[in-house]
Amino acid sequence: MAFRVEDRVRPYDLIRKKRDGGELTAEEITSLVDGFVRGEVADYQVSAWLMAVYFRGMTHRETADLTMAMARSGRMLDLRGIPGVKVDKHSSGGVGDKTSLVVVPLVASCGVPVPKMSGRGLGHTGGTLDKLESIPGLRTAVEVEAFVEQVRRLGCAIVGQTADLVPADKKLYALRDVTATVDSIPLIASSIMSKKIAGGADAIVLDVKAGSGAFMKDLHSARTLAQVMVAIGSQLGRRTVALVTDMDQPLGHAVGNAVEVREAVATLRGEGPGDLTELCLSLGAEMLRLGGRARELDEARQLLVDRLRDGAGLRKLQEMVSAQGGDPAAVEDLDRLPSAPVVLEVCSQQEGYVQGIDAEAVGRVAVILGAGRARKEDRVDPAVGLTVLAKRGARVARGDVVALVHARTLDDAQRAASGLLEAYRVGPVPPEPRPLVHGRVG
Ligand code: URA
Repeated sequence: MAFRVEDRVRPYDLIRKKRDGGELTAEEITSLVDGFVRGEVADYQVSAWLMAVYFRGMTHRETADLTMAMARSGRMLDLRGIPGVKVDKHSSGGVGDKTSLVVVPLVASCGVPVPKMSGRGLGHTGGTLDKLESIPGLRTAVEVEAFVEQVRRLGCAIVGQTADLVPADKKLYALRDVTATVDSIPLIASSIMSKKIAGGADAIVLDVKAGSGAFMKDLHSARTLAQVMVAIGSQLGRRTVALVTDMDQPLGHAVGNAVEVREAVATLRGEGPGDLTELCLSLGAEMLRLGGRARELDEARQLLVDRLRDGAGLRKLQEMVSAQGGDPAAVEDLDRLPSAPVVLEVCSQQEGYVQGIDAEAVGRVAVILGAGRARKEDRVDPAVGLTVLAKRGARVARGDVVALVHARTLDDAQRAASGLLEAYRVGPVPPEPRPLVHGRVG
C-alpha cells in the first residue's frame, strides 16, 4: 500500500502546533512541504499553516529546515565541476536596481566564478532577466548543463530559474499571494534562500533593500530579514553576508530595461552614477572576499576599481552576452539597444531641494509605461522607461529638467510625467543625508 503523509504526521496537528506557538521538527516541516508538493496536503491546510507562521513566526532552526525542505523539493545544482569558490548574489528587489548587470561580470573578471539565476520583474520592481533580454538576441532560458559549462568556461552567467528548481516555492508563493501571507520574514527568507541553496553556490552575498521602493519599507524589518537569511546560510553551510542598502529613491538614474543596460555599461566603463558605482563596489568586494580572492575588503575594492579602469569587467559582460546569443556589439554601440520613439523632459514645478523620491511610485509609473509587469503573463517593452536626473538633495529651480520619460506615445509620456512629478517631494531646506549602505550582517 502506498505510504501517505497522514500515516506519519497529520497536517492538522502541525497547523495546531504552530497556531499554539510550538516549534516544528525538521521531519514535520519536511513532511508538510513534501506532502504539499505531491498534492497530498490540501491548499486550505497549507494556507492555515502559513497564517499560523505569519502570526507565530519561526525559529532560525525551523526557518533553515523549511529552506532545506523547499530546496530539496526539486533539482539541486551540482557546481563541483567549476573550479574555485562559486559566489552567488541576490537582491531583495528594488527600482532601478541594475547592480547584477555590473557586479556579476566585474567579479568574474577578477577570477571569482558567479553562477546567477535571476527572476523577472513583478509589481513595481524590475527584474534582471527583463533588463538583459533588452539586448538583441540574448537568451536567459538556458539548460542547466549549458549554464554550468558557461560559468566553468567564462566565469559567469545570468539565466532564468528552471521549472524544476524549488517547485515548493512556486506553489507556496502562489498560496501566500492570495492569503495575505507574503510579508512574513521567515517565509520571505526561506523562499529566497531555498533558491540560492538549490542554485549550488558555495557562498552568497545578499543585498537587502530598505525603503519606499523595497519589499521591506523600514530599516528594522530589512535588518531582521538580513539576519535571518544570514543565519539560514550559515546553518546550511554557505558563507553568507548581507548588506542592508537604501531603496528610498531609485538606484542610479535609469529605470526600465534598455535604459538600465545603458547605465550598467556606463558603470562598467567607469562613468556610472556615484550611488550605483559605490553599491557595486561594496557588494563586489564582499563577493571577492567570500570567493577567497582578497583577504580584506579594501584590497577587494581596489581589484574591482582596477577592472573598471582597464575595461576587463566590460569585456566580461560582452563575453557573457555573446555566450547567451546576444549581440556583443550592442554593449559597445549602445544605439543598437532598443530606444523609445518619444523622449519627454519633465520639468520641476517647484523650487527648492529634492527631499525624497517615492521609489515605489516611480516603479509604478515605469510599469504603466510598459517597462514592468502588472501581471505575471504581461510582456515588457524593452525600450520604455525613465531617467531620474535630480535625486535626493539636488537643488532645483522651477522649470529645471528633473527627469526624462522614454515612451511609446506622447500620451503615455505625459501621463508618466505627471505621475513622476507626484513622486517628487521638494522642500526649502536640504534633506538629512541618508547612507547608501545602512549596515552589514555576516
Ligand atoms: N522574493 C522571493 O523570492 N520570495 C519572497 O517571498 C519575497 C521576495
